[in-house]
Amino acid sequence: MALLELAPGQLDFVGDPLRMALAGLAEQSRRPYVIEANGDAVGVLTLQAGAARLAGWPDDHSAWLLRGFLIDRRHQGRGLGRLAAAAAVVAAAKLTAGQEGGEAGVVLSVNERNPAGLAAYQNAGFVDHGQYLGGSSGPQRTMYHSFTPQLHGGLPLPQVPH
Ligand SMILES: CC(C)(COP(=O)(O)OP(=O)(O)OC[C@H]1O[C@@H](n2cnc3c(N)ncnc32)[C@H](O)[C@@H]1OP(=O)(O)O)[C@@H](O)C(=O)NCCC(=O)NCCS
Repeated sequence: MALLELAPGQLDFVGDPLRMALAGLAEQSRRPYVIEANGDAVGVLTLQAGAARLAGWPDDHSAWLLRGFLIDRRHQGRGLGRLAAAAAVVAAAKLTAGQEGGEAGVVLSVNERNPAGLAAYQNAGFVDHGQYLGGSSGPQRTMYHSFTPQLHGGLPLPQVPH
């Protein structure tokens, strides 16, 4: 965990990974994950129950909070962030099913000055739910990914053969 590195300027966007991992082990509401690629630990993320308001969500319990997400700077920009964010949604859905919890998706907040984060989450299917002014590093976007597929208007419906 301590070997994971961020690029200059990225410390504003995420907490210290070691502290996040220790909190993850201490608090039952948190599920810390290591992101692996080809057998190497390349990043971390945490899913937390009952804390969605920390990302600007209107209540705490209808969504998992995704936090403490980072990919080591030497592995960034190759799609691992997108894949890990999508995998976090799948993992969260399984946690909810296993615990019969009330969450319907995953929410996070990402700094408006963090283009890599914004792009990775959007590419993973997270949808912008507006600006959030909590936190200490400036304006954030609240982004949400439902467990169930969403229909978006304007797409042609598939033709069903008679
Ligand atoms: C955010 C983070 C996890 C993304 O991980 P990643 O593996 O680099 O993500 P991906 O490779 O899947 O996607 C990165 C996207 O950002 C884009 N991007 C990266 N830097 C960018 C920049 N300066 N300007 C615009 N776009 C940028 C890439 O082009 C890519 O988008 P594309 O696939 O559409 O081309 C990683 O950058 C990171 O750890 N950052 C530091 C900590 C952090 O910000 N965590 C998130 C807190 S909410």
